[in-house]
Amino acid sequence: MATATPSSPTESRAQPRLLTGDRPTGPLHLGHLVGSLENRVALQHDHECFIIVADLHTLTTRPRRDQIEALPGFVRSIVLDQLAVGIDPQRATFYLQSGVPAVYDLAILLQMLVPKTRLEQIGSLRSMARAAALPDDAMTMGLLGYPVLQAADILMARASVVPVGADNEEHIAIARECASVFNELYGELFPLPQARTTRSSALPGVELGPVGSGAKMSKSLGNAVYLDDDAATVASKIRTLGFDDVDRRNEHDAAIVSFARAFLGDDEAAGLGRGLRSGSTSVAAAHDAIIAAVETRLAPIRARRRELEAQTGLVDEILVDGTIRAREVANGTLARVRETMGLEPLWSGLVAATEARAKARRKPY
Ligand code: TRP
Repeated sequence: MATATPSSPTESRAQPRLLTGDRPTGPLHLGHLVGSLENRVALQHDHECFIIVADLHTLTTRPRRDQIEALPGFVRSIVLDQLAVGIDPQRATFYLQSGVPAVYDLAILLQMLVPKTRLEQIGSLRSMARAAALPDDAMTMGLLGYPVLQAADILMARASVVPVGADNEEHIAIARECASVFNELYGELFPLPQARTTRSSALPGVELGPVGSGAKMSKSLGNAVYLDDDAATVASKIRTLGFDDVDRRNEHDAAIVSFARAFLGDDEAAGLGRGLRSGSTSVAAAHDAIIAAVETRLAPIRARRRELEAQTGLVDEILVDGTIRAREVANGTLARVRETMGLEPLWSGLVAATEARAKARRKPY
């Protein structure tokens, strides 16, 4: 039980609150590792971290029963991946979004503050609709409201730091707008959340699946190296990275050079790029160097993953403990929101009047 107990609130309140996380749509891959997970591991030391498993957001494009039935496996693997990478459940609160009902309430209240046309301008929503093969006229309220739900996640924790990819920057802008409009209309309650985007450009995928060199690594494109792939699978996927004439003429880094940059560092990557171009380095030698560097990163993650998996029920317990803690935080924020907006006084006024009337009725005249 002690493993999952978050640090005491008094100790942690001194640190800025951070909230981030992912939709549980599959296991995490190398793109997540270098793009966001290593950053989370570093930030946990001087932030009070909330890590959301955003299953409600998954429903915005995957509402079918069979898609919901896939959630438990994805939810567990996404938490396990993050623990294996080194996020400490003693420091960070992992929680399941749908297990925190106060967030639904908060999302409804925030919806009143965001113009529909503002949401219609957000490009990431159109891309998500397209990726889910939803035509424009089939856009649901849920998908249009995706950023408002995300604002509710962030504001329920009153978080100020939100590390996300560039594709989520607009969503954090919506959260900031919700916070500032709320504060202006009803009274200061929310800190304005700031997006913290990672500078490094997205890791390209390996050259498997329908897309060629250069597409960002993504589960849905079938070009990902997963954190739980075994060493032989990782090596064979990396060996698909080519270096051909097209790459030589290309202004951008070839995928193989981007991999080298991510895992060997800028200097070695530049040297390797020069070697490949001049022919003094073979593609096979470049693969070997990259595979060795990736293995150095993945081997301890794999070992830690095995250790965690051996402790049956541990991941579930961490998620349950974290969700209970997130509920307390969310209930606290919702109570303050209702008070600030005048909704709690409305209800308690009705209750008080009714109690007084009942009392009066029982009095003999
Ligand atoms: N939108 C994020 C994604 O692209 C997931 C998410 C939901 C999130 N709520 C959040 C991220 C709050 C940061 C903060 O998967």
